[in-house]
Amino acid sequence: MTPLNLVPSEPLLRADHVTLEYQGEHGTVRATEDVSFEVWRGDRFVLLGPSGCGKSTLLKAAGGFIRPQAGSLSLAGQPVTGPGPDRIVVFQEFDQLPPWKTVRDNVMFPMLAGGVRRSEADQRAGHWLGKVGLARFADAYPHTLSGGMKARVAIARALAMQPAVLLMDEPFAALDALTRRTMQEELQALWEEIGFTMLFVTHSIEEALVVGNRILLLSPHPGRVRAELNSHQFSLSSAGSQEFQAAAQRIHGLLFGQAAEPISHPSTAVQ
Ligand SMILES: Nc1ncnc2c1ncn2[C@@H]1O[C@H](COP(=O)(O)OP(=O)(O)OP(=O)(O)O)[C@@H](O)[C@H]1O
Ligand SMILES: [Mg+2]
Repeated sequence: MTPLNLVPSEPLLRADHVTLEYQGEHGTVRATEDVSFEVWRGDRFVLLGPSGCGKSTLLKAAGGFIRPQAGSLSLAGQPVTGPGPDRIVVFQEFDQLPPWKTVRDNVMFPMLAGGVRRSEADQRAGHWLGKVGLARFADAYPHTLSGGMKARVAIARALAMQPAVLLMDEPFAALDALTRRTMQEELQALWEEIGFTMLFVTHSIEEALVVGNRILLLSPHPGRVRAELNSHQFSLSSAGSQEFQAAAQRIHGLLFGQAAEPISHPSTAVQ
């Protein structure tokens, strides 16, 4: 019998009027204000905005590392109250890979810490290292890898945890331009193959257009929603095209233009 393929009727991750603040030495810093968005299963949802607009802060809140001052976040209808293995974060600092562990041990480590049996963790590590093209480097140590390879290890490590949502905070920002392009392409190919859900933070308009199918534009500090866009997928080969440049310019205008007030019915297609 064919299993029922039920279409989810609720978003996987929902941010509902989220305001996030830090208590600093010089008083309260409001990082984001009244931000709402919905990430649906299979989305490549991008938070895009200038430096300091609260993108990383929103990602940390989605990860459950910090709590909103107002509003709420929920995952599959359940309030987010703390970190969990259903939300794994990939940062840009790949040197977070412990240097004394081999690539395979780095990928296995969070699974073992989460109670996965060693034989299964080993099998899953092998599988995911294969998916990111690093099967031959399973026994290598991180310092012998290039930046792009470390990024691949971080992605394999995250996906091996089988999270409901992959949270990515400018994962390719530290890479050179060419490697960054390659990684965007590889991420796209992995997504096409596996169809995972991700929330991806960037301040690069081009990266947002290449990586995302939905893009939330945030205003400068404190971050408020400027607009939400449905982006039809641009491949990297179309990145130089007129269509791509026009979409990038439109986003630039929405992000930095004078008239860019929050849009009350924000779903607009960029083509
Ligand atoms: N630990 C902290 N304590 C106090 N203020 C903080 C802290 N972390 C971030 N902030 C402030 O919150 C605001 C949002 O910071 P956040 O790091 O989320 O921005 P961002 O959009 O990720 O920027 P970037 O693109 O530079 O990474 C900034 O004004 C920042 O100074
Ligand atoms: Mg950041």
